[in-house]
Amino acid sequence: MNTTKPPYLGFGLGLRPQHYEEILSGSPAIDWFEVISENYMIPGGQPLRILDQIRERYPIVMHGVSLSIASTAPLDMDYLGALKTLAERVNPRWISDHLCWTGVHGVNLHDLHVVDRVSQVQDFLGRRLTLENVSSYVSFGQSEMTEWEFVTEVANRADCWLLFDVNNVYVSAFNHGFSTDEFLHGVPRDRVVQFHVAGHSHEESHIIDTHDHPVCDEVWDFYREAVTHFGPVSTMIERDDNIPPLAEVVAELDIARNIAREVQEGAQLTAAE
Ligand SMILES: [Fe+2]
Repeated sequence: MNTTKPPYLGFGLGLRPQHYEEILSGSPAIDWFEVISENYMIPGGQPLRILDQIRERYPIVMHGVSLSIASTAPLDMDYLGALKTLAERVNPRWISDHLCWTGVHGVNLHDLHVVDRVSQVQDFLGRRLTLENVSSYVSFGQSEMTEWEFVTEVANRADCWLLFDVNNVYVSAFNHGFSTDEFLHGVPRDRVVQFHVAGHSHEESHIIDTHDHPVCDEVWDFYREAVTHFGPVSTMIERDDNIPPLAEVVAELDIARNIAREVQEGAQLTAAE
């Protein structure tokens, strides 16, 4: 099993079909791309041909939405087989999916079950998996641990990497009334290999993680805190709806670059004092 920590890739974007042409015909200032695995888990066809061209020029990471790692149903071996085939073709720097937080009672049993499933997937893929914290809207009356405790427990015991979704922490903290700082300081620092940053929809009483708006100032502020705490982590803007022209998302990515640079320069100044 490959347990080497994935490299720092800089600032990337989610690859979206609306941008294929602009990416291939120009050379936008994007360091790497994250692809939705399921969109390319088909033999042959146009999407795979385009992905082949893009991966010749940029590092790729694979992000899945269907692993259902916390489910009680058996692992879907057909899905995992197709995922592995795609990974062999694409050579992603890492493979991620979501760690669903279902803080039902009996969470200790549940978390053992998830650890076991992550281990099985990692054995099958021959590499560590990267798990992302999700956003949630309802809380569970019987939670025996916080979400960050659950994420930490699973990551340490299954020995996997973490994708820290800055926006998801912000959204869940708002919806459930916990502090973003508690989450930030509650997960193991050396396991975090990627950040997601995204926009959301703010309703009256709650926030929905819609990925259809530019990133808001509060999430950028929290991103600054995350970079300060974790150090340089490969960062990506997630935009799934209302997809603007590439230049607009690249401009958002530059905000992330500037924040990370300011944090780094600040740290160097402090070190030099
Ligand atoms: Fe995300």
